[in-house]
Amino acid sequence: TTFFCEYKPGLEGIPAAKSSISHVDGQKGILEYRGINIEELTKKGSFLETAYLLIWDRLPTKEELKQFETNILYHRRIKYRIRDMMKCFPETGHPMDALQTSAAALGLFYSRRALDDPEYIRKAVVRLLAKIPTMVAAFHQMRKGNDPIQPNDELDYAANFLYMLTERKPDPLAARIFDVCLTLHAEHTINASTFSAMVTASTLTDPYAVIASAVGTLAGPLHGGANEEVLLMLEEIGSIENVRPYVEKCIANKQKIMGFGHRVYKVKDPRATILQDLVKQLFGETGQDPYYDIAVELERVVEENFGHKGIYPNVDFYSGLVYRKLGIPDDLFTPIFAIARVAGWLAHWKEQLAVNRIFRPTQVYTGVHNAPYIPIEER
Ligand code: SDX
Repeated sequence: TTFFCEYKPGLEGIPAAKSSISHVDGQKGILEYRGINIEELTKKGSFLETAYLLIWDRLPTKEELKQFETNILYHRRIKYRIRDMMKCFPETGHPMDALQTSAAALGLFYSRRALDDPEYIRKAVVRLLAKIPTMVAAFHQMRKGNDPIQPNDELDYAANFLYMLTERKPDPLAARIFDVCLTLHAEHTINASTFSAMVTASTLTDPYAVIASAVGTLAGPLHGGANEEVLLMLEEIGSIENVRPYVEKCIANKQKIMGFGHRVYKVKDPRATILQDLVKQLFGETGQDPYYDIAVELERVVEENFGHKGIYPNVDFYSGLVYRKLGIPDDLFTPIFAIARVAGWLAHWKEQLAVNRIFRPTQVYTGVHNAPYIPIEER
């Protein structure tokens, strides 16, 4: 067999696509969505505007954005049959499993595979962006024994999610900060869950299966699941004095420290810096946070020990502190990551449809040949 390049575990450094959706400079700590710097977008834009930019490759006009927001508002509700199905889910199940299952179930209700019809594509984009947050909030309400709360049409995308989750209208600062978090998590080139979405999309299956595949991939602790693990770690450390002993224990056990390290960033993830500022903004509202002080000390000690290896905080390190200050339960941090990343997954789904080439890599065969079939009596 002739290979075009040698095998690299995890496809490290292997281009799996040509894409113009986003760009990461891992040495300089730069993230751009369609060429626009993430700092600009989080300061001046909104999540839905960013989703439009990612998916349709340009910033919407005022009318287009209004129409997009209105369409999504109309599609927020989920079918009662999906709500009934979710009532059968065990309340002890992880919300990511509930989301993966209910996202796939959307495919049961909508026509499949009209992928050459731009109207089908547009509808699928609107339905998924609109319904995924509702499904996350609905499962959370049901596992508490409540009926799901219907979306509130007076509230924008971010505020409505917090409302469906907490049963209270959020204050404007909380809604604004949450919207910025969604923009920060919307897209990040060919990460594991986006790659899953692309591989699934390349078989021309329906977009609901594509999103369900990506949700399952994001759930892993090495990927989106790290944000939930970070707070458990900060609780385990418990005090600033315990930070150094904790890091030394991780080094001794060759245990990875959650919220640090990245395949691409070899400096601090620019999203971590923005999230850190959001935590400080929330201090005004909710007071200093001992876990934040532990996190800052942990960042310092990790830099001392791992900075030379290019291991710095990634997007998952401070996000949990923001979500906790917004009153969001720890096990919903990764579903929130999924809510935002639906925008990026859909952008790559559309881009992959245009490539229209099924993913089918090869392998370096390390097995044997012409092996005998041994009868069971002789084994
Ligand atoms: C996300 O890809 C994306 O873009 C993902 C993401 C996105 O927006 O989609 O940015 C979101 O998933 C952020 C990552 C969240 N995960 C975590 O925080 C879990 C902890 N991080 C590590 O598991 C790890 O850093 C990864 C998975 C993020 C990256 O893994 P790599 O690129 O495969 O790195 P590696 O495991 O090969 O590590 C290289 C070296 C190793 O040391 P050596 O064996 O070479 O001596 O760095 C060490 C690792 O042991 N290392 C760490 C470490 N991460 C890497 N050591 C301690 N703590 C860590 N966190």
